[in-house]
Amino acid sequence: MTIEKDFFRQVMGHFATGVTVVTTSNQGVVSGLTVNAFCSVSLNPPLVLICIDIHSTAMTQIRESGAFAVNMLTEQQEDLSRCFATQSDERFKHFCHASYHAVATGAPVLADVLAFVDARVVAEYPGGDHSIFLGQVEALGIGGKVLFADAREAENATDHNGQTPPPDEAPLTYYLGHYRRLADAYRTPSMNKPVGTTQPHSDNDVQ
Ligand SMILES: Cc1cc2nc3c(=O)[nH]c(=O)nc-3n(C[C@H](O)[C@H](O)[C@H](O)COP(=O)(O)O)c2cc1C
Repeated sequence: MTIEKDFFRQVMGHFATGVTVVTTSNQGVVSGLTVNAFCSVSLNPPLVLICIDIHSTAMTQIRESGAFAVNMLTEQQEDLSRCFATQSDERFKHFCHASYHAVATGAPVLADVLAFVDARVVAEYPGGDHSIFLGQVEALGIGGKVLFADAREAENATDHNGQTPPPDEAPLTYYLGHYRRLADAYRTPSMNKPVGTTQPHSDNDVQ
């Protein structure tokens, strides 16, 4: 019995993920693609991995540049995710009109992302029709706070305050082939009793 491609996709689609745009800069040319095959690998040393289709143009760019940034998107950035997953002039000629700046490796870090990881490729492994890039983290940031592996790079770093997303930004997520948004954070029912509804009986209720 063979594993059908469609069923494989269907099963994997049940694993809800965030959405990232992986970017790189090769000889001054910036490029990127939408990726959800991203995960953290090791704390010491700090390592992450991404899986990139061997037929994608982006894979060659990452391999040649030896560095990539993983830009975790907010729910306001669905358009960027869509653009970086297309074969279009908008993507190839205009970098999806995204604003960016270099942080440590030179890979573009997109403006207003939820968080980012900037990494140097330390290994590439075969993964069937994908290549697995292992990256050692040189810088990473969230909400305007940026940390560098090499303290000297921090001294040369530009001010990242302009990159701070509003505090209530939520991640863009992907599930069963569709973009999703997280529901508001769960609030303790006892503190937010909906008006006009009866709460379940508890031993602490005053009778
Ligand atoms: C939500 C989402 C997640 C994706 N994740 C990946 C991924 O992890 N790896 C990958 O190679 N392609 C992934 N893709 C597909 C690429 O973004 C898409 O095929 C892109 O056009 C590749 O461009 P290229 O072939 O010009 O490099 C994803 C697409 C979407 C919409």
